[in-house]
Amino acid sequence: MTHSFKRTLVTTALPYANGPVHLGHLAGVYLPADIYVRFKRLCGEEIIHIGGSDEHGVPITITADREGITPQDVVDRYHSMNADAFSRCGISFDYYGRTSSARHHQTAREFFTEIEQKGIFVKKTEKLFFDAKAGRFLSDRYVTGTCPICSNTEANGDQCEQCGTHLSPLELIDPKSKLSDATPELRETLHWYFPLGRFQKQLEAYVDGHSEEWRQNVVNYSRTWLNQGLADRAITRDLSWGISLPLDTDEAKGKVLYVWFDAVLGYISFTREWAEKQGSEELWKRYWQDPESRIINFIGKDNVVFHTLMFPAILMAWNEGRSEGLYQLADNVPASEFMNFEGRKFSKSRNYAVYLGEFLDSFPADTLRYSIAMNYPENKDSDFSWSDFQNRTNGELADTLGNFIKRSVDFTNSRFDGEVPCDISPEEWNALGIDWQESFRKLEEAYEGFHFREAATQAMEIARFANRYLTEGEPWKTIKVDRDAAARTMAVSLNLCHTLSLVFYPVIPETCNRIHRMLGFEGTIDDLVAPGSRVWQTAIEPGLKKGHKLLGSSEILFSKIEQADIEPELKKIEALLAEAQRREAVAEQAQIAFKPEISFDDFQKVDLRVARVLECEPVKKASKLLKMKLLVGTEERQVLSGIAQYYSPEEMVGKQVVLVANLADRSIRGELSQGMILAVEGRDGRLFVVEPDGDEIIGNSVQ
Ligand code: 2FM
Ligand code: ZN
Repeated sequence: MTHSFKRTLVTTALPYANGPVHLGHLAGVYLPADIYVRFKRLCGEEIIHIGGSDEHGVPITITADREGITPQDVVDRYHSMNADAFSRCGISFDYYGRTSSARHHQTAREFFTEIEQKGIFVKKTEKLFFDAKAGRFLSDRYVTGTCPICSNTEANGDQCEQCGTHLSPLELIDPKSKLSDATPELRETLHWYFPLGRFQKQLEAYVDGHSEEWRQNVVNYSRTWLNQGLADRAITRDLSWGISLPLDTDEAKGKVLYVWFDAVLGYISFTREWAEKQGSEELWKRYWQDPESRIINFIGKDNVVFHTLMFPAILMAWNEGRSEGLYQLADNVPASEFMNFEGRKFSKSRNYAVYLGEFLDSFPADTLRYSIAMNYPENKDSDFSWSDFQNRTNGELADTLGNFIKRSVDFTNSRFDGEVPCDISPEEWNALGIDWQESFRKLEEAYEGFHFREAATQAMEIARFANRYLTEGEPWKTIKVDRDAAARTMAVSLNLCHTLSLVFYPVIPETCNRIHRMLGFEGTIDDLVAPGSRVWQTAIEPGLKKGHKLLGSSEILFSKIEQADIEPELKKIEALLAEAQRREAVAEQAQIAFKPEISFDDFQKVDLRVARVLECEPVKKASKLLKMKLLVGTEERQVLSGIAQYYSPEEMVGKQVVLVANLADRSIRGELSQGMILAVEGRDGRLFVVEPDGDEIIGNSVQ
């Protein structure tokens, strides 16, 4: 604990209120944040945890349209569902807000107005798809069509799920509106852009200034963007669901703030709402505007640049030219990797997920919290499996921790009148065979440094030590010949129970509260942890004195998970996997099936030519594309091709390829593509460029 901050604000990414949160969300963001916050509270630090629902964005309106209900209905349903699941899982938010609140709308508008009045936004007219039947501009997600890279006919306007390419709707071949299936038309519309580039230098300095302590993935993602040069980002949309612009002009009509612009500001609005609830309206400023406060944003890796570039830039824009009311930027942005599930990615759209609320209907929260902490995807993707969950619960929680606590408490209750039988001196405690200083140094470093797997492992090490200590002490034998020796063993064991209840508290709080009670304390550990209370510091010493009375009864802390308990879950997985495989097989079949017959004349229309690659280079912000200059006869052509994963630009130069020479020109990612080159798809989607072998055939037609 070397830093000098007075207090900490922890925020967690606001999950969209468009579906139930699943175990992947819990593992990446909410559990790590909760573990951290609970540890800090134990240490007596001033810390608050602010979260809530992200209630805007197009997917919510799509759900509403699909179900024939209003977007408000959708967010009401999932906001309460998720808040409830988090609370049942012991995620101890100080406040859980929602971005549909009046306070949030007001905050977001304040930011817009401030930046608008400073003249920082750029306004641009652009052509967007408009569905004339539905009378609406179509956001990226409302347009579907054929992917120009892989020919998937169901690509979305923002991304093709099949090949992963990020697209703009204008790049889709044969675009269709998802609202009416009509072919959309291009219409002009005006939008506000946030000029991220204006803050390039400041953002570089911000990221550089934290590059030592931030995780590598966070620094890397941010630098990749910075190195490409930051572009203007549209922060308004033509939609009816969202925060309308605080402008009474014709050009602002029918426009709302882009969901990401408002979502990140939710952290601020919710801190304000929390402060209001505390009865002190200005309290939120202590967290956001006092340099002695520390802000930490827990997020998943897919949210990095919004938190290290976009949000800071918005705050920089607010701060520009001001001498007071300046916002602090986050001091750390611990982004997790993903936790997979039985070897596969969680996917809401493919319904491959275990939802938190449903999980908690069958198993206790702490068993889940512990297993996930032990699989925390800190630096690389991890995997959650039912068998791992079962093994950890049975072997580690039940057999090691639970068993030790119960044996200690039961034996004391039955043989020592439920009282700590003697005092343990610090010398005795230190001579037990565990290096307390080292063990606590590791624990603190792990909790402080967001290494939650290490923290849980270290705590379990102490439980293992304690279990061994009691077993080897054999008080049930020694009590017959040397009551004092048995008394010492029990006094040490009970003190170990006390230590364990605190070192495990951040990870499995409910269990630790139960241990606390069995040890005879009133109330819960939660009740003890006010700022300044220093409960953590008592864990390293033998805190239970001679005569301290236990509750007098005990309970089983963890029931074993039997095969029969997880059998239905394994069946569900099997069904999900079978469904996934069935779909893959269908997709493969679809590829094998021949296309409908064409006439010879049809074929003759396609002008295939041999060409030579003269130059080849990568395309900015399109990691899958290569841009090539081709020589076809005497003509030169520029062609883009989605083969960057399989060929380096150097490899391509000099190759003879087959060009579809009379394909209409297209613009892909703002670059002209005059035709396409032929490639064959191999296993796992790998592409092989067709390379005709022959001398002096450049420009010749392929027939
Ligand atoms: O990715 C998501 O689920 C977003 N709703 C996260 C928002 S985080 C913050 F900016 F609000
Ligand atoms: Zn594609």
